[in-house]
Amino acid sequence: IIDDFSNRDFEQIVLCRDPEAGLESVIAVHDTTLGPSLGGVRMRAYSSQADAVADAMNLAQAMTYKAALAGLPLGGGKSVINVDPRVANRDEILVAHAKYIAALGGRYIPGVDMGTSVRDLELIGRHVDVVSSQRGDPSYFTARGVVRSIEVALEACDRSVDGARVAIQGLGNVGLHAARMLAGAGAQVFGADIDPQRVRGAVDEISITAVDLDEILLSDVDVVAPCAGGGVIDERVIAGMRASILVGAANNMLAHSALARDLCDRGIVHVPDFVANAGGLLAVEAEIHDREQGLEGRVDAIADTARDILSRAASTDTDSVSVALAMAIEIVEGK
Ligand code: NAI
Repeated sequence: IIDDFSNRDFEQIVLCRDPEAGLESVIAVHDTTLGPSLGGVRMRAYSSQADAVADAMNLAQAMTYKAALAGLPLGGGKSVINVDPRVANRDEILVAHAKYIAALGGRYIPGVDMGTSVRDLELIGRHVDVVSSQRGDPSYFTARGVVRSIEVALEACDRSVDGARVAIQGLGNVGLHAARMLAGAGAQVFGADIDPQRVRGAVDEISITAVDLDEILLSDVDVVAPCAGGGVIDERVIAGMRASILVGAANNMLAHSALARDLCDRGIVHVPDFVANAGGLLAVEAEIHDREQGLEGRVDAIADTARDILSRAASTDTDSVSVALAMAIEIVEGK
């Protein structure tokens, strides 16, 4: 853990433990140049504390870049509680974690993430001055930004959403909103989810075509949109992909960063996840700074950033992730 910390550009890593409550967690503050670090509280059982720290660090770093490219006065952070979310004394664990967040004096603003809910954030908010995710679920805005990014990617291939075939992996909060918007704009939507009820709901409501779990990323479509877990795009998937566009909500969807080059070599147009899925962060920022007015327009402006990234990537034969990272770092360092 110490090696990883020394080799990466992180401001602060807090390892937290409260044996009485059964808490083992980590708070990763990547960068606060642009503002306090903001990021969700993830609750998940990891195979080791080192894995939990690595996940928190990768996610926190992506939050810095996401906030910078979305033009927000926020830095990047994330916290991870290394426990199964179905644990019996969940509230006690959350309170113990909240006390460590409070000790950071506002350098880290927590929000909802995998394994935590709005109610959990209310509980954390009793011990921490500023928490986000109190005014409901930002998924609609996340999906809206993803759809704007899909439109830009299609435009780069001289296509439009009307008549495009889009395969969505994961019909959860974001995936279902995106499916609705895309179907409403004339796309033919394909979908898969490990939860058969989610699939049935989407088939009944918007007449998506259900696809096998193993097939969804390799479907014969124009766009693949991962909206479930991270790390799903690996060498095997890239080699077998038939779509010419990859844009989705799943954080850290590439199994490792070098795969961005493989996508580029295969001619697959890719808007990085930390660009496409920034709508949720824009909604959360509007909530904590009380500026909900104009939020939809700010989410739609993700299209301008995506267009700029794709055009710079094409003109310099650079992969879109490297282009987006360089732009984000320039924003942070130029502050
Ligand atoms: P969710 O938990 O509501 O939905 C995820 C869906 O994926 C669930 O229905 C689940 O059953 C399904 N799923 C899980 N593994 C699968 C697999 N292997 N194949 C097919 N389906 C699978 O989560 P949500 O909020 O929709 O988020 C989706 C992704 O977008 C996550 O990676 C999240 O980190 C990311 N994201 C979400 C934001 C938000 O505003 N909710 C903001 C930014 C990123």
